[in-house]
Amino acid sequence: MIQIDTSRCVLCGMCARVCAAHCFHLTEKAVHVRHEEYCMHCGHCTAVCPKAAVTLDGVNPDTLEHAGPFPSQESLSALIRGRRSLRVFKEDAVPRETLLQALDTARYAPTGKNLENVSWLVLEGRDTLRRVSDSVVNVFRGEERMAALVRSHDSGSDPIFRGAPCVVFACAEGAYDLDIVNCSIAVATLDLLLPTMGLGGCWAGFAMRAASLDDKVCAAMGLNGSLRPLAGLMVGLPDLHYRRIPPRRALRVQWVGGEKA
Ligand SMILES: Cc1cc2nc3c(=O)[nH]c(=O)nc-3n(C[C@H](O)[C@H](O)[C@H](O)COP(=O)(O)O)c2cc1C
Repeated sequence: MIQIDTSRCVLCGMCARVCAAHCFHLTEKAVHVRHEEYCMHCGHCTAVCPKAAVTLDGVNPDTLEHAGPFPSQESLSALIRGRRSLRVFKEDAVPRETLLQALDTARYAPTGKNLENVSWLVLEGRDTLRRVSDSVVNVFRGEERMAALVRSHDSGSDPIFRGAPCVVFACAEGAYDLDIVNCSIAVATLDLLLPTMGLGGCWAGFAMRAASLDDKVCAAMGLNGSLRPLAGLMVGLPDLHYRRIPPRRALRVQWVGGEKA
């Protein structure tokens, strides 16, 4: 529900400008709320109002945390370029408090239609992870190009989760056509955040693929309802340090329209 405090509102119209669902109508004398049924509850109206005059869903705007300051471009660019997929983990468990902090931050990653429909499944402990990787590998048995991976798993190695002490999956029901995107953005956000907290991650693509092919993998993860594990990340403490940034393919960009610089 959207409420406007008329004693604070200065008719600047910022709420109307930012609202993707066109819920605000600005006149010379007032801001009117309309078509509230289309509200995505994204909170842009309450976040942008210079006078804290917009209350969304009963949350007093004076109680909202202030945004920023943001890291510098240099700092964020160093993180984006310097983070690496981690496949060499310490045996130590990931402290739940630290992981919870990271997941709590990833809640702010964008979701299509602001559905905020991503929830997390955390798999911990050798036995659990071996049971899940057994089920993942079973999906690939008989696939010629997966023969080496299956052999490696059967010989006691862990090509699926690389010995990580913990694997997290961003889950959604998959009913919305962009759910895989929503879950992937959540995991990508987490992946970027982990190195700032002394942790590292690596996408669990084999497990994601196997879970999309066979419900037995979801069941081995303990998911028997409608939630699907759509994006996954191995998580743990790094047992190495990447000193250099490896080369990447050259930037490829096509510009269409606009002015030449
Ligand atoms: C969707 C996706 C799935 C991946 N699946 C796996 C995987 O199952 N196992 C693994 O060791 N690495 C996996 N990776 C990691 C990639 O191999 C890695 O991102 C790539 O080699 C680049 O290395 P960097 O992340 O250190 O830049 C995956 C990455 C992505 C984005």
